Amino acid sequence: MQKINIAIDGYSSTGKSTLARQLAAALGYVYIDSGAMYRAVTLYALQHDLLEPEKLLGKLASIELRFDLNPENHKSEIHLNGKNVEKQIRSLEVSRKVSEISAIAEVRHKLVALQRSMGKEKGVVMDGRDIGTVVFPDADLKIFMTASPEIRANRRYKELLEKGDSVSYEAVLQNVRHRDNLDSTREMSPLKKADDAIEVDNSDMSLKEQFERIHAHALRVIAQKEKAPS
Ligand code: DC
Repeated sequence: MQKINIAIDGYSSTGKSTLARQLAAALGYVYIDSGAMYRAVTLYALQHDLLEPEKLLGKLASIELRFDLNPENHKSEIHLNGKNVEKQIRSLEVSRKVSEISAIAEVRHKLVALQRSMGKEKGVVMDGRDIGTVVFPDADLKIFMTASPEIRANRRYKELLEKGDSVSYEAVLQNVRHRDNLDSTREMSPLKKADDAIEVDNSDMSLKEQFERIHAHALRVIAQKEKAPS
């Protein structure tokens, strides 16, 4: 069966990774979390005291990233220089610094090249901020996900409460707005809908409904591709 690459971009807390995982599982594709790669480089910078761009640049070649399937949960998890860092990259410390690190041009060049090589054989669902615009501009299916800041903040607030974090809804909403602003105004590869992306506003859509619609659409795109292989 003909394979395609699927690019999923959008604002934070719009459920990109949930949708990407569901699609990859349903289609038998590989899911790649490009944000995890930026987070792993940030972790490396924190571990080696390389937060200033000049210091980090000299060490970029020493960073080796790989996704390996974890047999316990069947998820592909990120490895930094051979070590599984899937949990460590989600820390608050990494979250606080990742915007700065992901704005460094050389970091983006290195990771975009790696992401493109991962998609060479097709059959990849990748989520991020610049997948449809920069990484796979020729992807056969591009999705751009949005939801109102209030709805996203509420989802994130509930997740944090469940994890036992005591935060206020107002603080979460402020953080969502701040990250939207950083993601969409940075100079290098800002978050932007590709002209040929399908915009999905899931403010009032259930996960099931969202998945069913996009999965059906992906199957149509693949069928079309089979009829007219390029
Ligand atoms: O999706 P996430 O929150 O794990 O992403 C972490 C950070 O990495 C986020 O600040 C945006 C950045 N990022 C990026 O610049 N480009 C991507 N393709 C993916 C993530």
